[in-house]
Amino acid sequence: MYELGGKIVLVTGGASGLGRACVQRFRQEGATAIAADIAQSSADRSGSSIHLDVTSEDSWRAAIVEILERFGRIDVLLNGAGVAFDGDDVLNCTAEIWRKTLSVNLDGTFLGCKLVSAAMREGGGGSIINIASVNGATGDGGIVAEGVAAYASSKAAVRMLSKSAALDLAARKTNVRCNVILPGYFATPMVLDYLASHPDGDAARARIIDAHPMGRLGQPEELAGIVMYLASDRSAAVTGGEFVVDGGYLAR
Ligand SMILES: NC(=O)c1ccc[n+]([C@@H]2O[C@H](COP(=O)([O-])OP(=O)(O)OC[C@H]3O[C@@H](n4cnc5c(N)ncnc54)[C@H](O)[C@@H]3O)[C@@H](O)[C@H]2O)c1
Repeated sequence: MYELGGKIVLVTGGASGLGRACVQRFRQEGATAIAADIAQSSADRSGSSIHLDVTSEDSWRAAIVEILERFGRIDVLLNGAGVAFDGDDVLNCTAEIWRKTLSVNLDGTFLGCKLVSAAMREGGGGSIINIASVNGATGDGGIVAEGVAAYASSKAAVRMLSKSAALDLAARKTNVRCNVILPGYFATPMVLDYLASHPDGDAARARIIDAHPMGRLGQPEELAGIVMYLASDRSAAVTGGEFVVDGGYLAR
């Protein structure tokens, strides 16, 4: 449907949740999707998974070399690796949690944009897709989740990083595009584990659902459509864009 056959796709955070759902969809669409993660995906029997710690420049460089040796180029990067920690509100968030959150969510996305775009440029172009969040567009303060200061800050920065990357890559005529997606809350381990460990999980779940006018969590597969579009040549004129997939969260 999206004519992705032959594309070489690198998905960080590909062992779980949204990244894993996108890896599966990319493969259904005929692409070679490489799941890159610090965790090993038990579902990945294709052999196309590699170890990558997105916070480490050395780890990125090693992964890129390995992929270029095996597959020759990288056409698409989905920066899906991310972390969220319970109760990281400004008053309670430790400096350690703050740095860890920004290290994975922001530094990891920056390193991917920087290092993979160079490889894409050598190969004639490509598409980078970053994942921010509705939390990067509006404050929370415990209304929906208990404290997301570090997480929200990292995701707001990912939005501006994505626009900056899009403009810098366009100015240099690289033929590399960069766009960012803002998901609402999806039923992935990140959210389901938070609810499972919450002292009043039912109330926490109800608060989250209430924040989404569609009245439900998104399913991981439901993010894949926009990712396939942004990865494909059908979005060849799209760069620096923000795409909201949030069941109406930001509409009110
Ligand atoms: N689930 C949601 O509701 C939601 C909403 C908005 C944005 N997001 C974002 O979507 C992305 C995916 O989230 P998810 O819900 O699928 O979470 P998830 O916890 O299911 O998956 C995240 C993956 O990232 C990997 N990861 C963590 N640190 C890493 C590192 N240093 N290097 C490489 N991989 C690392 C984890 O091992 C895991 O496989 C994240 O950036 C998250 O912030 C999720």
